[in-house]
Amino acid sequence: MRSSPHTGCSLIMNTELPQNARVLLRVDFNVPLQGGTVTDVTRLRSVIPTLQTLRQRGNACILMAHLGRPRGRNADLSLRLLVPILESLLGEPIVFVPDPMNDKSFLPEAAYSLLENLRFYPGEEANEVSFAQQLSRWGNFYINEAFSVAHRAHASIVGVPAFLPHAAGPLFQQELKALQSITECPVPPVLALVGGSKISTKLGVLHHLLKKVDTLAVGGGLANTFLAAQGYVIGTSLQEPALHEKARLLIQEAQQEGRTLLLPCDVVVRTARGATQVCPVEAIPSDAAIFDVGPMTVRRLENEIARARTVLWNGPLGRFEEPPFHKATKAILHTLATATRERSLVSVVGGGDSVAALHAASLDFSAFSYVSTSGGAFLEFLEGKELPGIRALQDS
Ligand code: 3PG
Repeated sequence: MRSSPHTGCSLIMNTELPQNARVLLRVDFNVPLQGGTVTDVTRLRSVIPTLQTLRQRGNACILMAHLGRPRGRNADLSLRLLVPILESLLGEPIVFVPDPMNDKSFLPEAAYSLLENLRFYPGEEANEVSFAQQLSRWGNFYINEAFSVAHRAHASIVGVPAFLPHAAGPLFQQELKALQSITECPVPPVLALVGGSKISTKLGVLHHLLKKVDTLAVGGGLANTFLAAQGYVIGTSLQEPALHEKARLLIQEAQQEGRTLLLPCDVVVRTARGATQVCPVEAIPSDAAIFDVGPMTVRRLENEIARARTVLWNGPLGRFEEPPFHKATKAILHTLATATRERSLVSVVGGGDSVAALHAASLDFSAFSYVSTSGGAFLEFLEGKELPGIRALQDS
C-alpha cells in the first residue's frame, strides 16, 4: 500500500503502510446472524492480519462497516454485538462508538474503535457529502478493505476517499488481483463453470465471460432454462421461460465467437413419487425435476478441467445442500482442488453459495488459488462493470 497523501490508490501489495496515523478502515462485517448470534466469523477473522500490521506500525484503527439492510436504527443489527468476537480474535480491547456522527465521541487515542452500523444513517446509502465529510473526521488516512462492498456507491466507499489520502487494503488488492487473473491476461485455456439457480441473476456474467474464456460450462438451475430453450422436456424443473430467447441468443453468440458453451448431457432428477434417477437430457420424465447434473456431465467437466490452466468456479452445479444431489458439485470441487495442488492450475472460486458449497464438500479456502466471500461485487466485476469502490480509490 502506498501511504503518500493524495496520490490515489496503490494496487501494489506489501509496499509502504501508513505509520502513526489514524486509519479509517472500511471493512465488510456483514456477517450471517441467527437469533442474534453470528453464525460465520470468516469476514471478521479475515481482516485481523491487516489490523495487526497497521497496529505494529503505530496506527490507530477506526473500523466502519454495515450489517444487514436496516431502515433507521435497529438494535438487532447494532455492530456492538461484534465487539466481543473481534476482541477475542484480536486479543485487544475495542472501543465501540454508538453515534459516530457526534463530534464529542471522537476517540483518537484508542488503538481500535468500531463505529456503529453505518446504514443506521440515511447519508450512508445516499452518499451524502456532509455525512462522508463527518465520517472522514475520524481518521487522517482511509483504507478500503471491503472489496465485497465495492459495487455500492455509498459514503463510506466512495465519499470518504474524496476527503482523505487513501489506499486499497491487502485483502481488497488480493481479491482484485484474483479477479483480474481470470479476466485480464489469464493463462489459457480458461474454463468458467457457472452454476446457481437462476439465469436472470447470471445473464450479465455469462455474456461477459463468453468473451473472456475458452469454455463456459453451465450447470445448476440456470442450465435448465438453456435446456428448455433448446426444446428439451425438463418436467417440473425450475426454469425461467421468459428468458428462453436470451438463452438461445447466448448459445448463438458462443458459436459466433468460437467459444464452447457446455450444457449438461445428463441430469439427476427426483420424480413425483420421490424416486431419484439419472437420465440423459433427451429422456427426462415429464413429472420429474432436475436437481443435479449427471455422472456423464461430471466426466466431461473433469476432462475440461484437465485441459484448462485457469478455472473460475461460480455457483453450485446442483442442490448441494440435499444429498444425493450434492455429488456433482462435490466431485468437481475436489477435481479442481487436486488440479490446483498438483499442476499449479489457477483456480478462483466465489460468488453466492460457492463458499457454502465448498464447506459442504469439506474443502477449505487453501485448496484453491483464491476463494472470494464477495457476492454482488464479485458478480458485477465478472459482468465487466466498473465498481464505484475501485474507481474511488483510483481518483486522487
Ligand atoms: C455482502 O454481504 O455481499 C456485502 O456486504 C454487501 O451487502 P449489501 O448487498 O447489503 O450491500
